[in-house]
Amino acid sequence: MSQHSQNNDKPNRSFGEQGNLSDSRLVEIHSHLARDKEEPAEGFSMLPIVIVFIFCGFGFWAGVYLTRNSGEFSASTFDLDAPKLVANMGPMVFEPDLVKGEKLYIQNCAACHQATGLGVAGAFPPIAGSAWPVGNEERVIKIVLAGLAGEIEVNGQKYVGNMSNIGAGLKDAQVANIISYVRSAWGNQGGPVMDTKVAEVRKAIGARGQYSGKEILDQHPLESK
Ligand code: HEC
Repeated sequence: MSQHSQNNDKPNRSFGEQGNLSDSRLVEIHSHLARDKEEPAEGFSMLPIVIVFIFCGFGFWAGVYLTRNSGEFSASTFDLDAPKLVANMGPMVFEPDLVKGEKLYIQNCAACHQATGLGVAGAFPPIAGSAWPVGNEERVIKIVLAGLAGEIEVNGQKYVGNMSNIGAGLKDAQVANIISYVRSAWGNQGGPVMDTKVAEVRKAIGARGQYSGKEILDQHPLESK
């Protein structure tokens, strides 16, 4: 207070006796309050909540505006590299699916060859343990696509039956899954078959009647086990 005391008659007067101070003196005493800066506060001061609301409101409005007025514009629409990228990915790779294959087998084959693959003695030949579905994959693909009729021999047993062109109404991938399944189920040891192979055989044989045992074995003799 010393800098203010020179104009005061009674410098040691306490503030309890302010009643005797002139207005101008009071203003002068308090002038430093207006002059002094605020004490620097630690941390951050809160943003007024109203501004936060206004800001969020703008963000929301902008989102709605863009959604309604962007005309489904996508950044990739004009990306000249996009078609190249898609082309480089190549065709989707088929993987033989034995679970699907089993399901399709039950639906399309099991009525005759049975879920066990053992067939019905004297009527439907077994696929389990048979040399026909394993080995060269084209033999079994052709049988499934075009059918098989007439006398054949499976595991030393003669059959004179008639299997229709069941695979003709199925997709390449479905036929590939069924055949991959029968070639690996019940202890059979044949490799998986790809859908592209089925497509290739389907194209090669075209729409045709059933094979006879002789015709198909001339093309694809049974491999000796
Ligand atoms: C309507 C009954 C029937 C259905 C359904 C059927 N088959 Fe056949 N399948 C036969 C008969 C009968 C033969 C024997 C044909 C003959 O005697 O010339 C045969 C023969 C075969 C053969 C060769 C002989 C052997 O036993 O190994 C294979 C492989 C075969 N079928 C697989 C299939 C597959 C896979 C399916 C399902 C996509 C299927 N079959 C659906 C009746 C059927």
